Amino acid sequence: MRRLFGVVAPRYDFITRVFSYGMDRSWKRRAVEMAGLAERATVLDLACGTGDFSKLVHARRPQAITIACDLTEEMLRLARQGGARDPVCGDAACLPFQDNSLDAVFVGYGLRNFPELAASIGELHRVLRPGGRLITLDFFLPENHFWRRLFLIYLYEQGAIWGWLLHREPRIYTYIPDSLQSFVTVPEFSRALASAKFHHVTALPFVLGGIAIHCATK
Ligand SMILES: C[S@@+](CC[C@H](N)C(=O)[O-])C[C@H]1O[C@@H](n2cnc3c(N)ncnc32)[C@H](O)[C@@H]1O
Repeated sequence: MRRLFGVVAPRYDFITRVFSYGMDRSWKRRAVEMAGLAERATVLDLACGTGDFSKLVHARRPQAITIACDLTEEMLRLARQGGARDPVCGDAACLPFQDNSLDAVFVGYGLRNFPELAASIGELHRVLRPGGRLITLDFFLPENHFWRRLFLIYLYEQGAIWGWLLHREPRIYTYIPDSLQSFVTVPEFSRALASAKFHHVTALPFVLGGIAIHCATK
């Protein structure tokens, strides 16, 4: 996983815009609005990649403390270049933060890559303070089976074309549908959050349930 993200890192922002037809930025802005952050909130941007959520949080709440955290050194280097201060190398399975220490955690397209979803949700719950918010944006398996099939075909085709064009490696971006195949639907993820003792779980689906923002309170 680290090696894969190290290779795609320099093209990551471009490919995210292409795959989302430019909608990724507006989804992320919406996710930041939904978090209802206080002026001086302490915010974790987990699986930060190049640091999109950190930048958007900083733009909305310049006095907030934002911590960008990722497993991949190359992503952290790009996040630092993009303005993230002292990004942290860390694994979602065992976060290097104290219990009840964060006001909000954002996870953009990271959940599917975490080895143990339930354990990672437990970790996110542990580091949030009571009343703190978890906000995630990710791909999900659409509930409608016909649309699910088409969506996966679309992601495999797009991945193969762009993988070949950018890296001469058609399989490089198929990690997106590969990881999605064994993932959950939007309502299943809402239930997983509720089972982990998150409250006020809300989901905002896009692309007929292929993408969604979830917001939940500890
Ligand atoms: C698809 S990128 C998402 C980047 C960014 N959050 C965004 O919204 O565009 C997924 C990121 O998750 C990171 N990642 C994968 N597994 C991880 C783990 N177990 N702990 C922390 N980060 C992880 C990868 O290094 C990669 O940067």
